[in-house]
Amino acid sequence: MSLRTLSSLGDLRGKRVILRCDFNVPLSDGVIVDDGRIRAALPTISALRSAGARVVIISHLGRPEGAPDSRYSLAPAATRLAELISDHVAFAEDTIGASAETTVANLVDGAVAVLENLRFNPEETSKDESVRLAFAQKLARFADAVVSDGFGVVHRKQASVYELEQILPSAAGLLVENELNVLQQLTDSPVHPYTVVLGGSKVSDKLGVISHLLPRVDNLLIGGGMLFTFLAAQGHSVGSSLLEADQIDTCREYMSRALELGVNLVLPSDVVVAEAFAPDARFVTVPADHIESSPFGSSGIGVDIGPTTSAEFAKIISASHTVFWNGPAGVFEMAPFASGTRAIAQALSEVDGLSVVGGGDSAAAVRVLGFDDEQFGHISTGGGASLEFLEGKVLPGLEVLGW
Ligand code: 3PG
Repeated sequence: MSLRTLSSLGDLRGKRVILRCDFNVPLSDGVIVDDGRIRAALPTISALRSAGARVVIISHLGRPEGAPDSRYSLAPAATRLAELISDHVAFAEDTIGASAETTVANLVDGAVAVLENLRFNPEETSKDESVRLAFAQKLARFADAVVSDGFGVVHRKQASVYELEQILPSAAGLLVENELNVLQQLTDSPVHPYTVVLGGSKVSDKLGVISHLLPRVDNLLIGGGMLFTFLAAQGHSVGSSLLEADQIDTCREYMSRALELGVNLVLPSDVVVAEAFAPDARFVTVPADHIESSPFGSSGIGVDIGPTTSAEFAKIISASHTVFWNGPAGVFEMAPFASGTRAIAQALSEVDGLSVVGGGDSAAAVRVLGFDDEQFGHISTGGGASLEFLEGKVLPGLEVLGW
C-alpha cells in the first residue's frame, strides 16, 4: 500500500503530462453551478506548471451516450479554469482527434490544455478491456506521463482511470493524496463518538456502506429520499414519497442489526410533506409515522426532514468528534425544502473534531446553501468514490497507482 506520488515522476520540465481530473461539475443551462471540483484540481495543476510540464487535462462530464453532445461539453469547465488560474487554457474540440493533436503539439512548458469530454468516445467506458486499452493507447500518444487526480472517478474501471495509468509512468495527484489522507482517518482511527449521516434518494446506492459502517459507528442518521423506505420497513405508510419496495426487508435487517450492535440508528420523527414535487407546492410538517395524515393524504410527497428531526440530528452531530455526511436530507434544490440539509451542514460546520462532507450532491448542497469550504474539515470531491472507499472496496483507479 504505497501510493506513487508526483515526485516519483522525476523531472517534468518540458514533458507532456496528462492530468486526469474529475471536472464532472453540475451545470444549469450551460452555467457551472458549483466549481468545487475544478478548484480542487488547482494545487496539482499549479505544481505541474511550476515544474515546467505541459499539462493536458482530460475528464468526463455527465453520462453522454458515447457520442459528442454539446450539453456535456467541457468547454465551460475550460473557461472556468482559465479564470481561476488567470491564464490562457487551450481547448481541444475532440479527445483523440485532429483538434487534440494540434492543441497538445502547440503547448509550451507550463501551459495548460483541456481536451473534450472523454465519454464522447464509447471506448472510454467500454466493458471490453481490449477496447478500453486501445483507447488508452491513443490517449497515451499525447503524453510522457499521466497524473491521476480525478478522485471522484477512481472507483470506475475506465480507460483514462485504469488502462492509461498502466501504459504511461503514472502517479497520484495532490488531490487524490489529500482525499486519501482524510478518508483514511475515517476508516483507520475515527475518534468517537463517530456519526454518519446518510441521505440522498436511494437506499440501494448505500447498501454496501451501511452494512460496512454499522459495526464501526456510534450513530447512523437517516434522511433524504431513502428515509421513506426505512419508515415503510417500520410499517408506516409513506403516501407518494419515494419508496424502494424491494429494499424494505434490507432496511428492516439493518434496523435489527443496529439494535444488536448497540448502534443508534436514528430515523426522522417528523417530515415535510408537499402536495406536489414543485418549489411552489403547498407543504406541511407531519409526524413521520403519520405521513398520510397531511391534508394531501396518500398523494403527499415527503420532501425534507422536519424541524424536530433537524434539531435532533444537529444535537447528535454536535456531540460527535468524527462525522461523515453523504446525501442531502431533502430536495435542497427547491428553497422551501432545503432546511434539513442546511441544518445538517450547519451542525457539521460546528463539530469539534473531523467533519467530512462526502462528495457529489452534498458537496454541491453546502456551497449552494452559502457555506464556505473552510467551515468543514474536508469536502470530498468523490460521491460514489468516497462511499466505496469507506466500504473498504478495492478501487481500480487507486490500485493502479500502487495503493
Ligand atoms: C461522480 O460524479 O460521482 C463522478 O464524476 C463519477 O461519475 P459517474 O458516476 O458518472 O461515473
